[in-house]
Amino acid sequence: MSQWIGIESLGFFTSRYALSLRDLAQERGVDPDKYLIGLGQEQMSVPPPGEDVVTLGANAAQRALHDTDRNSIDTLFFATESGVDQSKAAGMYLHRLLDLPATCRVVELKQACYSATAAVQFALALVAQNPRKKMLVVASDIARYGLDTPGEPTQGAGAVALLISADPRLMVLDPVSGVYASEIMDFWRPNYRDEALVDGRYSTRMYLQALCQSWTVYTQNTGRGFADHDRFCYHLPFTRMAEKAHIRLARECGIDPLPRESLDKHIGDSLFYNRMSGNSYSASLYAGLASLLDRCEEDLAGKRVGLFSYGSGCVAEYFSGIVTPGYRSSLRTTEREFMVQDRTLIDYAQYEAFYKRATPIHSGNAEFPVWNTGAYRWVAVRDHKRIYESVP
Ligand code: COA
Repeated sequence: MSQWIGIESLGFFTSRYALSLRDLAQERGVDPDKYLIGLGQEQMSVPPPGEDVVTLGANAAQRALHDTDRNSIDTLFFATESGVDQSKAAGMYLHRLLDLPATCRVVELKQACYSATAAVQFALALVAQNPRKKMLVVASDIARYGLDTPGEPTQGAGAVALLISADPRLMVLDPVSGVYASEIMDFWRPNYRDEALVDGRYSTRMYLQALCQSWTVYTQNTGRGFADHDRFCYHLPFTRMAEKAHIRLARECGIDPLPRESLDKHIGDSLFYNRMSGNSYSASLYAGLASLLDRCEEDLAGKRVGLFSYGSGCVAEYFSGIVTPGYRSSLRTTEREFMVQDRTLIDYAQYEAFYKRATPIHSGNAEFPVWNTGAYRWVAVRDHKRIYESVP
């Protein structure tokens, strides 16, 4: 690498309301262990009225930018598959809410859960072109499936913001990666639907296939093998998926069986935020990275972390980064862990009420009651215009 470029800061935010999957299991007449052990999920974040990918993303970005000169931000990449408009980028609302400079360009990217990784790659290239500039990547999503469908217990919501710069206080990212793309129908959401459609078991098979394919290209391009990586982060539709993926990757690399203690060491710390907040689609890999950096007791300075990004449809990319010495002083671990632990647990009836909230697609007018949505709130839709405000 000619330059040291990577993640300067990272902000993570998830809804202030969550449903225990034990309660969902009871309501659905399912053994709770199917969700807790079989899927590896404990709670799912449930967005209240007045919260969407804009407010989630703005809250995450605010945390990533707390000591950044906003005039240094060259581009805001907003990655989502829960877009709020067919034309206007959701990031434009953040541009105002976060007081970004008029010289900061804004664009929205989509390719299922993969798009934030495309944004990161574009950001690395832009910083390489002009190392004085910083790029803000915001990945924000709400995972929403039909009530009482197999996907329902894997719902969730969250956002991650990454500041990419030539001052990578958290992690230096290697731009050499392995990409795999193939047009398939494993998960999609037509424009006229609020809930995703998914062929769940097919999507998990395709995820594993894309992992093997992108890993092969990655090893060819970098010359690295399994043992060159100390920790591994995966796209996390549900945390058990990472276990399956890591065992599969180890087998591909001739390690079979992978001892349980190796599995726990390699991926265990990366799973906590997703286990508690559920799937956050484009943000989920990076929520996993936040979890690893926050929770790993061993000092990870100088260690290489493998990163696997998968977006149904499908595009996958395997890449890696090296944790920066002194990274802990740039983390906001206590605040993040508190945010996840300190949510309001709602009961099933409240979950269903939030789920069925009217989306004002046709009327073009609606006012939302006040719920806790962090520092930003989606107040209303008036004359088909979304109105957002900062919460004092
Ligand atoms: N105790 C412990 N484990 C249990 C259990 C119990 N009582 N009951 C079931 N399980 C296990 C199953 O054995 C299975 O584990 P396995 O895959 O290792 O065999 C796991 O729980 C899930 O059970 P399964 O019957 O496969 O669940 P499902 O068919 O209802 O749904 C998904 C699983 C993943 C298909 C579904 O949640 C989904 O569609 N999710 C959305 C799509 C998605 O996340 N795709 C991922 C790729 S991006």
